[in-house]
Amino acid sequence: MTRQHHPRAHPHPAHPPRHRLPRWQRRVLYGSGVPLLLTGLVWLAVHYSVGAGAGELPHPLEAWCLRLHGLAAMGALFVLGALAAAHMPQGWRLSRRWQLLRQQRTGVALCGLAALLVLSGYLLYYFAPEDLRPALGGLHAAAGVAMAALVLWHRRGSDPAGIAAS
Ligand code: HEM
Ligand code: HEM
Repeated sequence: MTRQHHPRAHPHPAHPPRHRLPRWQRRVLYGSGVPLLLTGLVWLAVHYSVGAGAGELPHPLEAWCLRLHGLAAMGALFVLGALAAAHMPQGWRLSRRWQLLRQQRTGVALCGLAALLVLSGYLLYYFAPEDLRPALGGLHAAAGVAMAALVLWHRRGSDPAGIAAS
């Protein structure tokens, strides 16, 4: 059923209000997410082509990728905490009120993927036995790539038609 809008009869806006992140949170989110993705993918490429994963000596780039990866991971954890305090509870209420089902489902999936990334990242750093490491690393990287794609799908478009349709 489509919603009927009578702007004069109803004080409510015709479209759901935007749920923008504060600019600093958006900057830290993308400013940590993009380097995480890049350093993770470059590490995979180097490790399995010319590095330790191909039976060679570890390539110097491998260590540098993980150093930068760890730095970006700290920023990502920080911004996830900020999102958990405001964006997630507000987004939950907004998505229920306005039936933003796509944002609701992808939002919950994003939370699950973030938890999986943090847990598998922790295991990779502190516990991974050598025989489990490649599988755990693969799972971790797959969750990372999925999360990056899902953030794009989770956002609404900036055109008014896209807003109305999503
Ligand atoms: C790790 C978890 C999450 C991340 C990284 C995330 C990220 C984002 C981003 C980047 C935007 C676009 C806002 C902007 O461009 O300023 C957005 C919008 C939104 N999010 Fe989330 N979100 C997460 C979890 C959730 C959850 C759990 C909900 C609740 C169901 C939710 C509901 C929404 C809604 C309703 C919008 C509005 C879309 C719009 O107005 O464009 N998000 N989110
Ligand atoms: C919140 C996001 C993330 C966190 C907290 C995180 C954390 C970590 C940590 C702690 C490690 C172990 C580093 C080490 O052994 O020195 C790691 C390794 C790795 N991460 Fe992430 N990461 C995240 C996102 C990503 C993303 C988006 C990708 C995408 C490709 C990715 C790919 C990798 C890869 C390939 C490794 C190396 C795996 C291995 O040693 O076998 N990570 N990550």
